[in-house]
Amino acid sequence: MSSREQFSSKLGFMLAAAGSAVGIGAIWKFPYMAGSNGGSVFILLFIACIFLISLPVLIAEFMIGRRGQADAVTTFKEQAPSTPWFAVGILGTVVSALILSFYSVVGGWILSYLVRALTFSVRPEAGQTYETLFATVIESPWQMILAHGGFMLLTILIVQAGIKSGIEKAGKIMMPALFVFFIILVVRSLTLDGAMEGVRFMFVPDWSHLTWETVLLALGQAFFTLSVGISIMITYASYLGKNENIGGTGVNVAAMNIFISLLAGLVIFPAVFAFGFEPDQGPGLVFVILPAVFEQIPFGSFFLIIFFILLLFATITSAISLLEMVVSTVIGKRGVSRARTAWIVGIFIFLLGIPSALSFGSLSHITIFGRSFFDLVDFVTNNIGMPLGALFISIFVGYYYSKQVSQTELNVSPVWYSIWRVLIRYVAPVAIIVIFIQGIS
Ligand code: PFF
Repeated sequence: MSSREQFSSKLGFMLAAAGSAVGIGAIWKFPYMAGSNGGSVFILLFIACIFLISLPVLIAEFMIGRRGQADAVTTFKEQAPSTPWFAVGILGTVVSALILSFYSVVGGWILSYLVRALTFSVRPEAGQTYETLFATVIESPWQMILAHGGFMLLTILIVQAGIKSGIEKAGKIMMPALFVFFIILVVRSLTLDGAMEGVRFMFVPDWSHLTWETVLLALGQAFFTLSVGISIMITYASYLGKNENIGGTGVNVAAMNIFISLLAGLVIFPAVFAFGFEPDQGPGLVFVILPAVFEQIPFGSFFLIIFFILLLFATITSAISLLEMVVSTVIGKRGVSRARTAWIVGIFIFLLGIPSALSFGSLSHITIFGRSFFDLVDFVTNNIGMPLGALFISIFVGYYYSKQVSQTELNVSPVWYSIWRVLIRYVAPVAIIVIFIQGIS
């Protein structure tokens, strides 16, 4: 095991963890979930869930991973021999594969829009609106399969070629670039006529939206956005040396995600109200609103291209972590070829994602429990798989680890350690169980 590579620097790990966390969760999913679930109330719940539940579990995953120095399943087997705890790693692997299957479909939408942006055809033609344009894109079966396949192909190529770290380093430039873009867009959006209505939607609570289902959805989003609950961060932290500050890294990742989510909201919602769109139109929200905002900016068509490239990049760094998780579990200690495994697993996930890719077009008439394939996979992974995994992880670290071990691992002041310990032992598990039971029923 001594030959196992480690992140060469603190920054390397930080970039990988942030690359996994920051993706379309903050930029695409957060605005549409908030838009469909009452805005401000969802946003408040989401932030509370991050600090009280998701962040403590993220730190717990870092601990398990760094102590384990192996893939998640092996780590659980070694830390809790002859127990069923390794099933948490398997659950994480299955959920990762399912998430990637629809994540890649959205990655495909981004690719399609990028191609359109490059050919200057993101503007609706006469008689079309931005909404009908988006519908045309996602309803076209071959285009969707091709785009989903193209995105998966990119992800596989990066993982199999072992150039992950290069991609993550490039994130050092791309991520701040994305920030700058968002800030420009926020300014443009906030200065549109009628923008304040959107700000109110985000920050003035309308408590009529406070239901258990909203709480469950906010919790799911808090896990999704930090990539928590499916042992991905265990896998990443397994490459971590003893001296890193895992608490600080966790807080940074959480803060960065909340910040980007709010920026994305501040671009989308003011524009939604200013242009007279509906905030609750679902997954298409960002794809409909963003091009409309860019249209209001000088050289908008040009900037739109750069923006989609950056967005694609953020999406790929998250997709890499999902594929990596599945690949590392399959390889385990078997010593099979990494490249081959990446291709086999990647193609399998591509096939798994085809029903989701067709969910808005040729398979739109098929629903299961009232949901399309796409929605179902999304709901089951975010709102069942991730909370369940997070629950087990909180119990594992909260009760299975001795106080001495977790204290040494976390290495923060006694006050912060006590806060974290209360959150991981009591708040997180109880909240997850209550929200889960209430939200599902
Ligand atoms: N956190 C990513 C995002 O917000 O886009 C999505 C994600 C990546 C979820 C990796 C889960 C995961 F394990």
